[in-house]
Amino acid sequence: MGEYKRVGILGGGQLAMMLCEAASRLGVSSKVLAPDANCPAKRTADMAVQADYEDLQAVQEFAADCDVVTFEFENVPVRSLFSLQEANHIVAPGAKILAIVQDRLTEKQFLQDNQIPLARFARIDKVSDLGPAMEAVGLPAVLKTRHFGYDGKGQTWIHEEKKAEAAFDLIHHHPAVLEEVVPFVREVSVIAACNYKGGFVAFPVTENVHEAGILRQSSIPANCSVEVAETAIAITRKIIDALGYVGVLAVEFFETGNGKLLVNEIAPRVHNSGHWTRGGACPDQFEMHIRAVLAMDMPQPKCASSAKMQNLIGADILQAEELQNAGWQVCDYGKSRKQPGRKMGHAVKWQ
Ligand SMILES: Nc1ncnc2c1ncn2[C@@H]1O[C@H](COP(=O)(O)OP(=O)(O)OP(=O)(O)O)[C@@H](O)[C@H]1O
Ligand SMILES: [Mg+2]
Repeated sequence: MGEYKRVGILGGGQLAMMLCEAASRLGVSSKVLAPDANCPAKRTADMAVQADYEDLQAVQEFAADCDVVTFEFENVPVRSLFSLQEANHIVAPGAKILAIVQDRLTEKQFLQDNQIPLARFARIDKVSDLGPAMEAVGLPAVLKTRHFGYDGKGQTWIHEEKKAEAAFDLIHHHPAVLEEVVPFVREVSVIAACNYKGGFVAFPVTENVHEAGILRQSSIPANCSVEVAETAIAITRKIIDALGYVGVLAVEFFETGNGKLLVNEIAPRVHNSGHWTRGGACPDQFEMHIRAVLAMDMPQPKCASSAKMQNLIGADILQAEELQNAGWQVCDYGKSRKQPGRKMGHAVKWQ
């Protein structure tokens, strides 16, 4: 290996873009692998390799001069990560963790096995599973595909028993889970990091607002009680310990009326609800991840007393200049197609 440490990132979206930016601040060289030749991360990575994630040979060649390989999204094929580990490359977080989290059912079973509180759920493989599942979970309920869901995609709500089959049709009879609808008072998330020695740091609990399944806004301080915030961090730590996790992990929670927390899902990566840290915390979540996976020091983050992040979705990006003039730090992901519903950038303000 050369004079500098080098991190390899599978994925080339905005999360990889910001990870590479953080790496360069640390004097760490960065490399991304993505199938898209014009991916956002191409602008901040020292090197970008265009290849499919399934292309084991390309992935192996990519990893050959990296000190560690990490990923920016959940849908990297685990086979590729396992093949890297078999060839003695360091992958963080590890392949087994991604395999658990990639599938909503195994993720929930893992949480349940570790006594982590979560909403009632049932497994759906076929139409005849719907009746017993509704019985177990109650209505209304959310039907979610087990694989490839993000930004509320692959999800549909069921309000009446007779509409269940139509809902299953909507998700093309893909393997799914049925989840009770949680009447939450707020959603919060914890972004935390762990290194190879078990050192743990957490950013302040963040409050999140979603619209139509997609994150609109995140802010600190969260409006929850100190006890709820402490419990959220304690649950996060328990998950990290149970997984033997290295890197940044995000845990999304529902807080119910009686101050109870239920885990919605976990993300084995830097997370949209932690974007306020880019400016609002030092180090930010991106730098913390690079530090964790490269076994560098992980300082306690120094954070602003309050911070807000709003996602710029679709045509919202056209307001970038206006937001900048109003004192927001805007990050434009430089995506070419301005599609409705696509995350095009975000804006952060802190004090
Ligand atoms: N069981 C539920 N009860 C109430 N609201 C829910 C439930 N499941 C999902 N939602 C709402 O939909 C949002 C998105 O759901 P979820 O986190 O499962 O989606 P996702 O597609 O995995 O999104 P992402 O990966 O972008 O967070 C939640 O943050 C919440 O606002
Ligand atoms: Mg979510």
